[in-house]
Amino acid sequence: MHIKKAQYIISSPGHEKCPPPDRPEYAFIGRSNVGKSSLINMLCNNDRLAKTSHTPGKTQLINHFEIESVSKEGNTDIVKWYLVDLPGYGFAKVSLSSRRKWEQMIEGYFRKRGNLAHAFVLIDARHSPQKIDLDFIKKLGLWQVPFTLIFTKADKEKQAVVSKNVKLFMESLRTTQQFLPQSFVTSSVKKTGKNKILDWIQDMNEDWSNSNVF
Ligand code: GTP
Ligand code: MG
Repeated sequence: MHIKKAQYIISSPGHEKCPPPDRPEYAFIGRSNVGKSSLINMLCNNDRLAKTSHTPGKTQLINHFEIESVSKEGNTDIVKWYLVDLPGYGFAKVSLSSRRKWEQMIEGYFRKRGNLAHAFVLIDARHSPQKIDLDFIKKLGLWQVPFTLIFTKADKEKQAVVSKNVKLFMESLRTTQQFLPQSFVTSSVKKTGKNKILDWIQDMNEDWSNSNVF
């Protein structure tokens, strides 16, 4: 897939305020500071599209980006879809009431957003499996949201450690999941994993247009 255009549309406090659900949508979620916004920028070739920060908790609303893509460079058949940057979980410095607000917003979004095609759950590749990520994945299962795992920040750790962490994560999932999800290893700094993820979205966009008529 080749992205022709990517632009910020709107930040919404809840699913009711999101743009009309007239095209497939892909949501990026994961622990605060895991690299969601950086990954979105890498995929779209634009470092200033989604706001990134060293301080966890930067993204606080549901952020929609409109993407126009073609299957290959030179093709003229433009496909439009949404990419969504979501606020992360596990940010230590939040009050209980902000956490509840986050939980309601996220649950409402995942359960009610009719055009949500797929979620990408980002996991820090430097660490062994964390309960907070496994718990979130369990919730996605409960809400019946199909998802893919993206292991981030691979440039910050030795390849052998990354591979071991991916393997351990998959083993932890095996205890609760009937089928293991697709997974990718990325680095937003080195731009690794970009084409594989874009091609995966392209496949899902094709499935979407075969099964949905707007
Ligand atoms: P919140 O919006 O706060 O939940 O964070 P986020 O998940 O959107 O993370 P963000 O993209 O803002 O990145 C957090 C920090 O990690 C920034 O300092 C990024 O530069 C850094 N970072 C993100 N991805 C990578 C990566 O692949 N490699 C390295 N080395 N640093 C990364
Ligand atoms: Mg962010």
